Order: sequence, then structure tokens, then C-alpha cells
Amino acid sequence: MKLKTKDLLTLEELSSKELSQLLDLSIKFKNDLKKGKHSSLLENKTLAMIFEKPSTRTRVSFETGMFQLGGHALNLSSNDMQLSRGESIEDTAKTLSRYVNVIMARVYDHKIIEKLAKHSSVPVINGLSDSFHPCQILADLMTIKEKKKKLKGLKIAWIGDGNNVCNSLIYGCARSGLSISIATPKGYEPDKKVVKDSKKHTEVELTNDPIKSVKNADVVMTDTFKSIHNQDPKRIKKFLPKFQVNSSLMKHAKKNTIFLHCLPAKRGSEVSSSVIDGPQSVVWDEAENRLHSQKALLASFSI
Ligand code: CP
Ligand code: NVA
Repeated sequence: MKLKTKDLLTLEELSSKELSQLLDLSIKFKNDLKKGKHSSLLENKTLAMIFEKPSTRTRVSFETGMFQLGGHALNLSSNDMQLSRGESIEDTAKTLSRYVNVIMARVYDHKIIEKLAKHSSVPVINGLSDSFHPCQILADLMTIKEKKKKLKGLKIAWIGDGNNVCNSLIYGCARSGLSISIATPKGYEPDKKVVKDSKKHTEVELTNDPIKSVKNADVVMTDTFKSIHNQDPKRIKKFLPKFQVNSSLMKHAKKNTIFLHCLPAKRGSEVSSSVIDGPQSVVWDEAENRLHSQKALLASFSI
């Protein structure tokens, strides 16, 4: 399968069918790797990875993924590029497009990745912006599918900040037939347009009550209250103690509810260690699945 979209910036670009096929391919790549089967699908292809901000999972999973598919990844800190001396995004995009087959970028401002995509002739993947984190949601949906054996009809509870991960998750739910209940403090709701568009395809509930959200949820998810692009310590006070995912909140969910967190996590803040290190947590499978789902993504672009 080759994706119709040139770029992946939000997750909205994928059709339900494409997303479902990507998840199946991710699971296939995972099984193949376990059996020692390798593919050289991306032999002689290169991926440029531009990082304006720190990363552990995104960087290592993309680089390892390219290597395992026979290709090569270049790690480019924006500080070491001429971007830091004022070269424009347009000129950077045009130049990189003459060398590499795909560009992945982690940026502060979503407008930068839009500009990069507009001026690149090769596919551009958003490796996290202030507004979206589509690659994370590929891994999250893959993890949910592995654990629950289906996606359609499940309910996700998102607790805390209606942030970049949450925005892409809403699109993922809309494309996969999951309902989502999002519990945030007032003023921390996800993007209005994302919610409005997604409500046409699935149930998207916004509430200020985490207990209401987790009732009947098959999956509970949260993320840091202090993101890479917003370190304001005053934010935390808006979330704690009410929006922490801890054992007493999880008691309101089902016995077999699973817990996901994109990581990095702050134990004692958005999640208690009893939950993230407890039996319902699948965060290490989730982190591993970044590798397999991004390999599926890279293999599905027309490059
Ligand atoms: N979840 C995630 O994107 O992790 P990194 O910030 O380590 O890449
Ligand atoms: N929402 C977090 C995700 C980190 C992977 C952030 O933007 O920092």
C-alpha cells in the first residue's frame, strides 16, 4: 500500500483504510523482526531528522527503523544547521529534498512543519510539534489493537492536558471507530477544530470530570502537564490533584483497562507510580511500537 498523502503532519491526512493497513503492516514488521526476518525495502534511501527540541524515543526509533529497512538516517540538530544562522525553512526544505528521500522534523511551532512540507518535494513527517504528534498515535493504536484485538467500539479516556498528543489521538479515534472522553481542567481542552471535525465520525466527549471519563473506558491515557514547549511551573497547579491518573481513579475503570503514556513521564505528577509501573500499564510495549509503526509508515510513502 502507498499512502495518498505526501506528508504526515497531524494524522488527519490518513483515511480509515490507510490507517488500518498501516497498523497491520506495523504488526507484521514486529512479528518479522521477532523471527529474524529483515527487509531491505529502503535500501539506498535516506531520512533527514531535524530536531529543534530533545527526543529519546522518536530519534532512536526512526534511526533504528531506517537501518532495519536497509536505509540510513541523518540526525540533524537545528542548532548545527544553517537554520540557526538564519537560513530560511524554504531554502532548507528545497536543499534537503535534493539529497534525502524523507524528512522528519520535531519543531516548536506547527507552522514551521507546514512550511517545511510546503517547500519540500519529498515526504515530511511531523515528529512532534506544539499542536500534533501523529507518529505517537500510530504506535498507540497499534498497542491498543495488540492488547484488545480490535479498535472499533472501544472507549479511550484521556485525562489531563488536551495537548498535541491528544489532538492527534482524537483524529486517530475518528479514523478507527473508537470513542474518546477527554477530561481536562477548564481552558486546557484540545483544539476546537479537531474536536468539531472528529465529532462527525465518532463520539468525542469533553468534560472536567476524570471519573466520568474513565467509567467504562477500555484504555486510559495521559501525558505530561509540562510539555517541551511549555515549561511554565504554574500549569501543574491547574491539574493536581484532580487530574492525576492514580489507583483510585483507575478503580472507576474496568478491571482489564490498559494504561498508556507516550513518555517521558513524571511519576507523582500526571501519573502515580502504582499505575505506570503497575499491571495495567503497557507503556514499554507502546514505546517499542514506535519502532514498528514508523517502519510501516516509512515503507508506505512513495519514495
Ligand atoms: N514519546 C516521544 O515522542 O518521546 P521522545 O520525546 O523521547 O521522542
Ligand atoms: N506532550 C509532550 C509529548 C512529549 C513526547 C510534549 O509536547 O512535550
